[in-house]
Amino acid sequence: MGLLDDVAEVLIREEEIANRIGDLGRQISRDYDGKTPLFVGILKGASLFLSDLIRQVTVPCMLDFIATSAYGDGTENSGIVRILKDLDQTIEGRHVVIVDDIIDTGFTMDYLLETLKARYPASLRVCALLDKVSRRRRHVPIDYRGFEIPDKFVVGYGLDYAGIYRNLPFICVLKPEVYS
Ligand code: IMP
Ligand code: MG
Repeated sequence: MGLLDDVAEVLIREEEIANRIGDLGRQISRDYDGKTPLFVGILKGASLFLSDLIRQVTVPCMLDFIATSAYGDGTENSGIVRILKDLDQTIEGRHVVIVDDIIDTGFTMDYLLETLKARYPASLRVCALLDKVSRRRRHVPIDYRGFEIPDKFVVGYGLDYAGIYRNLPFICVLKPEVYS
């Protein structure tokens, strides 16, 4: 039994992801012309997206990572967000782009925006590969969005279920028996 046996449906193919990231990279490169943005990836889910994204960015940039508390092994968000690993550097005066794999309820990004705003960045924007807009509980301004997706729990391309499936190269839904 391999990982692929657990896949019920592929929602976004590898090629579609790459094309869309090309668009986002070009847009970000235009918007940050003459600047050196700092990309802040939210561990661990955003790591694949971030590494592909910055290779489509043509302005000089820097990288940092932040880790927040996850759902545990389930699929429901408690609404409580904690920082597990903070940034290595100060962001005062920097042009910061927070990068995440998916905005679901919006609790995580809302909390991070408030927290990072208090550190006086020159600017602060949000880039998310996926937007599950129907589940939103907090308003989050998404400056760069890959895809809007329906209210389904998805895995692959960095997104996990119980820590597994991040290495699938596409975004997909798992078979119901995987959760039982
Ligand atoms: P939010 O705080 O509810 O917006 O969700 C934040 C985090 O929950 C995301 O960064 C993901 O790591 C995780 N998450 C939300 N929806 C999904 C999903 O469908 N699959 C896997 N992880 C998810
Ligand atoms: Mg995440």
